[in-house]
Amino acid sequence: MTRMSTGYTELTELTGDEFRARLPEALALYVAAMNYPQGTAEQRAPMWLTHALREGWRCVAALDADDHLVGLAYGYRGTTGQWWHEQVRKGLAGRESDQAADAWLSDYFELTEIHVRPASQGKGTGEDLLRGLVDGVPQRNVLLSTPEGTSRAWKLYRRLGFTDVLRDYYFAGDPRAFAILGRALPLED
Ligand SMILES: CC(C)(COP(=O)(O)OP(=O)(O)OC[C@H]1O[C@@H](n2cnc3c(N)ncnc32)[C@H](O)[C@@H]1OP(=O)(O)O)[C@@H](O)C(=O)NCCC(=O)NCCS
Repeated sequence: MTRMSTGYTELTELTGDEFRARLPEALALYVAAMNYPQGTAEQRAPMWLTHALREGWRCVAALDADDHLVGLAYGYRGTTGQWWHEQVRKGLAGRESDQAADAWLSDYFELTEIHVRPASQGKGTGEDLLRGLVDGVPQRNVLLSTPEGTSRAWKLYRRLGFTDVLRDYYFAGDPRAFAILGRALPLED
């Protein structure tokens, strides 16, 4: 990975063991980036560890000169039986034909998390993380969900060519409206 912005010194792919070793740091970054209350990290930890065991899981980290996380992105192959997959299929079933749903869901990489330290945002790190994460993944599409109205994330996704798959969708147990966005792979330069 040779692309480099001013926001970090190294972009690197983490192994599962490296990710697990950095989990507290990664969750602290997530809580800060999302402006979530403390305690969210503990709640999320088991889920992130489970995700790291999924088929096709990949994680890319941006590190500073002191080897601290500036940003992190991960995802995995989406497939039948996963909670997110089934939720999105249910949402699409209400609004799209089975064919349209299959076109998105039959072969995709789920971009599950992407976060950059608040003080380091707006310097191209998010774009580099996203590009690095999906570079070379074998799936036909990449899909993600994002709360409606988070402007910086939205700008990044739109700039990289993500289009609407499903808008104003409510995942079970979450009162916020989400958008599911997607695009075909690979990303062009
Ligand atoms: C979404 C997120 C990961 C994007 O990361 P980022 O590093 O800020 O993204 P980028 O810098 O690549 O792009 C964002 C902005 O920086 C600008 N930018 C890109 N490269 C730049 C550079 N070299 N110099 C200055 N600005 C630059 C982009 O044009 C874009 O413009 P904007 O500030 O008007 O939105 C990050 O903002 C974040 O963690 N947000 C909070 C958490 C979140 O919403 N995560 C996603 C949940 S779905």
